[in-house]
Amino acid sequence: MEGFGPGKVILLGEHAVVYGFPALAGPLSIGVRAVGERLPPGRAASLNMPRGLRGRSRALLAEAFGAAVRESGAGGVRVRLESDLPTGMGLGSSAAVSVACARVLLKAARLDSEAAASEPAAKDVARVAWEMERVFHGTPSGLDHSCSAMGELIHFRRRPSQKVPSVTPVSSPKPLNVLVWLLGERPSTKETVAALRARQMAWPERYGRIFREIGRLADEGRRAVEAGELAWLGDLMNMNHGLLSGLGLSSAAIDEAVHRLRAAGALGAKLTGSGGDGGAVIGLFEDPGPVAKKLGRQGVDCFVSQLAGPTLRGRV
Ligand code: PMV
Repeated sequence: MEGFGPGKVILLGEHAVVYGFPALAGPLSIGVRAVGERLPPGRAASLNMPRGLRGRSRALLAEAFGAAVRESGAGGVRVRLESDLPTGMGLGSSAAVSVACARVLLKAARLDSEAAASEPAAKDVARVAWEMERVFHGTPSGLDHSCSAMGELIHFRRRPSQKVPSVTPVSSPKPLNVLVWLLGERPSTKETVAALRARQMAWPERYGRIFREIGRLADEGRRAVEAGELAWLGDLMNMNHGLLSGLGLSSAAIDEAVHRLRAAGALGAKLTGSGGDGGAVIGLFEDPGPVAKKLGRQGVDCFVSQLAGPTLRGRV
């Protein structure tokens, strides 16, 4: 039994999504694979801990896996993880782990082998993965694991009064290609979200205005993607980066990467994920390949990925 959870990038709307505004996120071609081996009946589900994982991260993964086992009702399976996704960069690695585990556990919960071979429904995967994400992050918006469970570009919104978010797949008539630039270590999402929360609480009206505007950019971005208007989408990304910067979520290194991508011809570039300092920056290009090669020769750690478009079929 196997399950794949793709990583993700947020095209528009990070942080504002925590306050109930819309966001747009797409799956990466890289991610986490969970492989499950059936155990004799009566044995509990267990996870082989990734080598090198120590201390608090190890304890959190064990606790999260236990929560997913309870939610899925799975028993009699040993799960191991394989990943080609950089961790702690804002590429949704914990959500990818959660979705990969959820897929395998849901398969293991089915009794006959034929049913175990078919893919579980995305909404069930999201429900089980959410239990893991809550252990990893406390109160995440749910954007990351929803995108990974759907395996396609999504428009996401969870209003404060809503328990279940509204998640809508967004189709693109054109290939949506991004270059992902990995800057390195960054503060944890929890810390960055908490520091922003403190500023928002001090000046709720002004911060609320910016969040609302970011949500409007995400709504507009959905229309730009559906119309295949990449220049329009790129402009929205540039503006979103400016607003994230205004919220105090950028840094000199992030801004330098954004400006180098724009100078290299990006239609739009912005930080992706929680930001702060380090993490990842994305650039939207019709064909990011040559730029990625050139930046790679200059020592930049980067890769390209297609997030949506006609040639992209479900990755999960
Ligand atoms: O953990 P990251 O870097 O993928 O950030 C997640 C996006 C936030 O909007 C900052 C947090 C959230 O829960 O949506």
